[in-house]
Order: sequence, then C-alpha cells, then structure tokens
Amino acid sequence: MEYKNIEVKIEKGIATITINRPKALNALNTETLEELENVLEVLQNDDGVKVIVITGAGEKAFVAGADISEMKDMSVFEAKKFAELGQKVFRKIELVKKPVIAAVNGYALGGGCELALACDIRIASRNAKFGQPEVGLGIIPGFGGTQRLPRIVGVSKAKELIYTGDMIDAEEALRIGLISKVVEQDKLLEEAYGIAKKIMSKGLVAVSLAKEAINKSLEVDIDSGMEYEANAFAMCFGTQDQKEGMAAFLEKRAPKFEGR
Ligand code: CAA
Repeated sequence: MEYKNIEVKIEKGIATITINRPKALNALNTETLEELENVLEVLQNDDGVKVIVITGAGEKAFVAGADISEMKDMSVFEAKKFAELGQKVFRKIELVKKPVIAAVNGYALGGGCELALACDIRIASRNAKFGQPEVGLGIIPGFGGTQRLPRIVGVSKAKELIYTGDMIDAEEALRIGLISKVVEQDKLLEEAYGIAKKIMSKGLVAVSLAKEAINKSLEVDIDSGMEYEANAFAMCFGTQDQKEGMAAFLEKRAPKFEGR
C-alpha cells in the first residue's frame, strides 16, 4: 500500500511511523486511520521489526485530533463508523505483539491524546500539550479516551480533563502519570530509540508476554489476571531466551538473546 498521510522508516529493528499531515497539524482523517491500520498489520508480521515508535511530523503537533473538517457534516451513522474505525486501529496498537512507544512532539489533542494513550510507553518533548477538547466541539472523545484516560490517570483527573477540555503541558502530564518522561524536542526521537534499544537487548518473547499480561490486568479480575500471569510466566520456560538469560546470569556474562 502507498501511504499518503504517514511515513514509515525501519532501521535496526525499530519501525518509526510518522503521522504526516502537517498542514492540518497531523489530524486523523479516515484515510490516515486506514493507512495506520494497514501499516500496523505489516509491522506485526515483519519479524525484523522489534519495536514501533509513533510520532508526528513537524515541531508543532503530534496529532491535533480527529479531522474536524471531515467530521463536521457526518451523520449519526457515519460518526459511529468513524469512531469504530479509530477504536479498532488504536486497539490494534494496544494488542500488537511488540512494544509501541509514543514520541509526542507537540499537540496531542482529542484523537491525538487517544493515540498516545493506546501506546505502551509515552514520552514527550517539553513543548507538548495534552488534552481532550471534544466537549468544546459538542462531542465526546470517540477513539477510546473515555476508557483509557481514567485507567491511566484515575477517574477524577480524567473527568476533569474531559469535562473542561483543558490542555495540560508536558510537566503536568508527567506529574499525573500520563507520560513517563519529558525531554528537549531535539532529543525526543533519540530518547525514544534509546528506550527501544534497551528493550531490544532483553528477551523479546518475554517482553511481548509481559505486554499481554499487563493489558490483561486492566481487563479482568485479579484472580483471572494472576492465572494469566502464571501461564505467561510458565510459557517463558519454553523459550531459548529463558535458558540463555539464566545461564548467562549464572556464568556471569551478558546474555545473547535470539527472541525465541
Ligand atoms: N482537524 C482538522 N484540522 C485541524 C485540526 C483538527 N483536529 N487541528 C488543527 N487543524 C488545522 C486548522 O484548521 C488549521 O488549518 P488552516 O491553516 O487551513 O486554517 C491548521 O490545522 C493549523 O491550525 P491552527 O491555525 O488552529 O493553529 P494554532 O496554532 O492557532 O492552534 C491548536 C493549534 C490549538 C492545536 C488548534 O489547531 C486546535 O485547537 N485544533 C483542534 C484541536 C481539537 O479540538 N481536537 C479534537 C478534535 S475532535 C476528536 O479528536 C474526536 C475524537 O476523539 C475522535
């Protein structure tokens, strides 16, 4: 598939997806969402790709939301389809069996904040701004914001952000646990790649199973979650990486993981 609204670069096991509609501050229209869906499928099946980084083109915006020009005249039925498409694509990010890092380089508003929320790890540049301004447009978040934001920052803060539509800066986002690191803008991708490389030096089957188990913790009761964890823990013992990791520790040498 030829992409018009995103750029994809794969280098040394790291795939970088850049949302690239700078004239609309990288707003997500249907076409962009479909391209994202397609590329996630491709990257999921590419064994050479170990970690995915998502960022926005330019220095101003990560993603300034769903595309308001496209939504303006939508019927109820079209709006439902649009929300379901965004939700499906973001769920794919959450479920892809590889770590996904959001490198938030500017405005992450509405659907842009929701895109970041679906990623496993979020870091941001100092100029980043986060918010769910939808109620100011007479709508509510539609790409998972009402579901993921309370899980990440707690119900009270999520309600405050969604009811007021207030924007917060990167330091405040860090303080409330919405992101895990703030860096200078020119160091953002370097920082994201540093995290990616650190992850890639570990047992990647284990990382993938950890992602699944942590995701489960948000979806099921604690006993089911514990059972899931015990099964995933046991599965690690069927991997070469577990044998290598433990042997290397006992032999006092660095492990050489093969990701199998
Ligand atoms: N959709 C479509 N176009 C957008 C856009 C969006 N979400 N955000 C910005 N743009 C466009 C602007 O219309 C403008 O286009 P023109 O140059 O053709 O006029 C261009 O990007 C630059 O934007 P501004 O001139 O507004 O830039 P600014 O620096 O003055 O303001 C901003 C920046 C504060 C981010 C402002 O653009 C803004 O508030 N954007 C909208 C944010 C928003 O409401 N997002 C939520 C969308 S709804 C949603 O996402 C629903 C959902 O959950 C699924």
